[in-house]
Amino acid sequence: MASRVIPVDPFDLVIFGGTGDLARRKILPALYRRFVAGQFERDTRLIGAARGAMDAEGYRAFARDALAEFAPELAGRKRALADFLAMLDHVTLDARGEEGWDILAEKIRKDRIRAFYFSVGPTLFGDLARRLQRHGLAHGDARIVVEKPFGHDLESARALNRGLARHFDEHQIYRIDHYLGKETVQNLMAIRFGNVLFEPLWNSQYVDHIQITVAESVGVGGRGEYYDRAGAMRDMVQNHLMQLLCLIAMEPPAKFDPDAVRDEKLKVIRALDPVAPGAVVRGQYEGTDTLPDYRTEAGNPESTTESFIALKLHVSNWRWAGTPFYLRTGKRLRERTSEIAVVFKDAPHSIFGPEAGRHRNILTIRLQPNEGIELGVTIKEPGPGGMRLIDVPLDMTFAEALGPEEADFPDAYERLIMDVIRGNQTLFMRGDEVEAAWAWTDPVIAEWEAAGTAPLPYATGSSGPDDALMLMHRDGRRWREIRP
Ligand code: BG6
Repeated sequence: MASRVIPVDPFDLVIFGGTGDLARRKILPALYRRFVAGQFERDTRLIGAARGAMDAEGYRAFARDALAEFAPELAGRKRALADFLAMLDHVTLDARGEEGWDILAEKIRKDRIRAFYFSVGPTLFGDLARRLQRHGLAHGDARIVVEKPFGHDLESARALNRGLARHFDEHQIYRIDHYLGKETVQNLMAIRFGNVLFEPLWNSQYVDHIQITVAESVGVGGRGEYYDRAGAMRDMVQNHLMQLLCLIAMEPPAKFDPDAVRDEKLKVIRALDPVAPGAVVRGQYEGTDTLPDYRTEAGNPESTTESFIALKLHVSNWRWAGTPFYLRTGKRLRERTSEIAVVFKDAPHSIFGPEAGRHRNILTIRLQPNEGIELGVTIKEPGPGGMRLIDVPLDMTFAEALGPEEADFPDAYERLIMDVIRGNQTLFMRGDEVEAAWAWTDPVIAEWEAAGTAPLPYATGSSGPDDALMLMHRDGRRWREIRP
């Protein structure tokens, strides 16, 4: 059974930074896949806008190369490719000057939804917003999409929000956190609020702790300059891991509507305790014979930026008082794997006696790769021997449960860009949410900066520094293995 595609209303989309890396790798391939899926019509304008001199033909050639590389599975669709490329146009434009804006304004049609994707650094957000308004492009159905990093700290995030708010209403601003577009991340809400099974147990009475791991096997690669100013805390925790934490910890919203969901997420962030200094472990990867170490890759021999971080958090509210949340993320770890594990408490009394050992239910939500859910349950070990217990997984790998076609999940950007056109902000961060996340993040960073501590070295291909393991061992708990 192929999934149903509901076409969106006609739209014009402008990609500022149209020849940048994100446009090439993500935005253009996502649009192309949605077009091939039949989600929008040929009567759509997709306009790249960038400073470099380029005409429509040049942009089509750029897009053709990008699609060959980043949507290779559609290489045989010659007709669709020609139709898609015919929708592309390009305007040479200066975000900080007047060049190109009148031409752009002429190309945008009045009777369409208009979306402007700011695929540029945050220093240009305010300029773009201002010029869009000045050229009569900001009103009505206009919406803007902004990428992370949304600020470097609370103050800069506030300044960005203010800069956008001068020209656009909050309902027109789509702040992307691409983790929210991941199919299994959305599934988190379906699992929690679509089943009666889990929710009664979803609290500190039954949950011992929750672990969130987002492990990457790659290093910082060519993004060293940006990354060295950010580090894992700003690059991953303040946004992606925080969003996962919110979806896991939030109260059920009254309905699946943008503000109802985002109100509940905001409450979680505001309920976070400050992190105790001993509850943070930072690491930096070492090199191998063939791979450079972090400092070399980042181009900063003195760098004290973390490429790994583990934290223990507390959400101080009725539901979660006393249940720790352990978060970790890092680069150059053993595998690329992301999962959330809800580890339930022991049964209150074991009727099988101490020799039956210790058994726990664990609900694991695997975000990537191999998306699925696994519930660890305890059963009797088969055989005529005594009453011995073992833990087995009730495994629901989506590819097996749904069939490979249904489990061929769209890239997060496909979903998110179509949501922008549909005008659905549920999977986008609201301004106050981003600010609350920074308000929690800033003191954690300030603490280690004041202490002047350097991150601990860890081996490429490991699970991070040993101190991260200790963070849990001290509490009589252990991380789940980082494995495919
Ligand atoms: C980005 C970070 O937001 O997310 C990167 O800036 C990181 O450093 C990436 O590699 C991870 O995304 P994904 O979808 O590959 O898990």
